[in-house]
Amino acid sequence: MPNINKKIKKNRKNNQVIGVFDSGVGGLSVLRELQHLLPRENFVFLADQKYVPYGEKTKKELIKLAYKITDYFVNYHNIKMMVVACNTSTCNSIGELRKKYSFLIVGTVPAIKLAAENSKSATVAIISTPSTSKSQVLKKLIKDNCQNINVLNISCKNLENVVEKGKLNNAEVKRLLLKYLTEVKDSNTDQLVLGCTHYVFLKKTIENFLGPRIRVIDGNKGIAKQTKSLLLAHLMKNNQRAKGKTLYFSTGNSVKFSKVASKLLKIKVRAKKVAI
Ligand code: DGL
Repeated sequence: MPNINKKIKKNRKNNQVIGVFDSGVGGLSVLRELQHLLPRENFVFLADQKYVPYGEKTKKELIKLAYKITDYFVNYHNIKMMVVACNTSTCNSIGELRKKYSFLIVGTVPAIKLAAENSKSATVAIISTPSTSKSQVLKKLIKDNCQNINVLNISCKNLENVVEKGKLNNAEVKRLLLKYLTEVKDSNTDQLVLGCTHYVFLKKTIENFLGPRIRVIDGNKGIAKQTKSLLLAHLMKNNQRAKGKTLYFSTGNSVKFSKVASKLLKIKVRAKKVAI
């Protein structure tokens, strides 16, 4: 067993933190569901903003970044579990992460299954970053869940970047929605999957753009539920009386991160910069 796994096993306790990461602020949309469902857990959130966006990186680059963040979580925060709050990282590196580390890892994949189950028109759409859109994980999810369903797999550039700037409804957002969602609006689609955690913050704007005929879906609540089930099944849930705490870190500009995160979460967030 590699040393890192020995270290993880030795001191595992229920009150250890859960590591959550994304390329940037998008993962906060997953974190808020986790905090809501697991109010006694302690979290450490890392936004890898030095390398944002992840959406146009290669699989090899994404694996390297995921290893680096996970090692940081293990060595500096002694995590008991990790949630990859990023579709791009999950779709490109979850298999490699699970091979290397022995603790529980929850990933974020587009909620294609839910969309397929709910579709009456037999047409669904998914928007995601270029690296998610062309990943084998997404292709397999579509193949396994959408046998008699038409799927519009739309690769979007720059849509995560507007959210990084804290812009959820400006002219640039509208221009991008027009570019990527017009074909969805004009099709028979009745379910749109948000395949990037940044897009969850654009949900209202997207719903307004598409109108009531198309349901907009994300899997964030499901991720929180899965995390809770795993904690219970492995007897690892934190039963401390006090409310859990969250520490926030960014590998980029932590002042900017704090400002945008505070706006998105509607709470005061004070992040620290970390070089990893
Ligand atoms: N939030 C990420 C996702 O869910 C990635 C966004 C990016 O950095 O491109 O895919």
